Amino acid sequence: MRRWFAAGLAVAAVIGATAIAASQEVKSLRGDQAITEVDKAPPVHQVREGQRYERAYRQQPPLIPHAIEKYEIDVKVNQCLRCHDWPQNVRENAPKVSETHYVDRQGVRLDKIASTRWFCNQCHVPQADAKPLVENTFKPASPATR
Ligand code: HEC
Ligand code: HEC
Repeated sequence: MRRWFAAGLAVAAVIGATAIAASQEVKSLRGDQAITEVDKAPPVHQVREGQRYERAYRQQPPLIPHAIEKYEIDVKVNQCLRCHDWPQNVRENAPKVSETHYVDRQGVRLDKIASTRWFCNQCHVPQADAKPLVENTFKPASPATR
């Protein structure tokens, strides 16, 4: 009698699980697209030139107020320095790379840009009028009074 009861329970469990699986619709993050379909390209935002976005907090790497896709940065070449390294920046009328970028990890002052700052776009990104990817409640640390 006990055994029949246990077997009956097991059968009921299997039927139940199947029913739940069938009623739950499986949906991927891509939505209803077939795997073979290619996702739509995300929108490309235009760089806002001719004005500078304010920093949201004191230590923020300033946003880049110009396009950068033509400037190569790799192990050997860094074309940003052509305009931003001293003394070229004077001729190019570009803001000089921050003094903090000439200090290595041990705090030693260097004459060349520190290798920890070589890949500029690790920290600096072109500014764009783009909506936040995720809704959030971020507010600037010290809202500008302007
Ligand atoms: C042809 C010269 C030139 C090159 C190359 C160049 N920039 Fe600039 N950059 C400028 C000028 C000029 C400004 C100032 C623009 C303004 O004030 O509107 C500027 C502004 C900036 C600023 C804003 C600084 C601040 O204090 O607000 C950042 C950050 C910056 N550039 C980063 C970069 C990075 C990173 C690269 C390489 C990917 C790069 N730039 C390549 C000329 C250049
Ligand atoms: C590890 C992050 C990081 C990297 C890499 C980096 N920067 Fe910065 N940069 C900052 C931060 C943070 C500031 C603002 C605080 C400061 O001045 O140090 C800044 C400031 C600046 C400024 C403004 C200076 C001023 O006096 O207003 C310029 C221009 C700049 N960086 C250019 C560059 C260029 C060009 C490169 C690549 C050669 C680069 N940065 C690499 C983080 C970085």
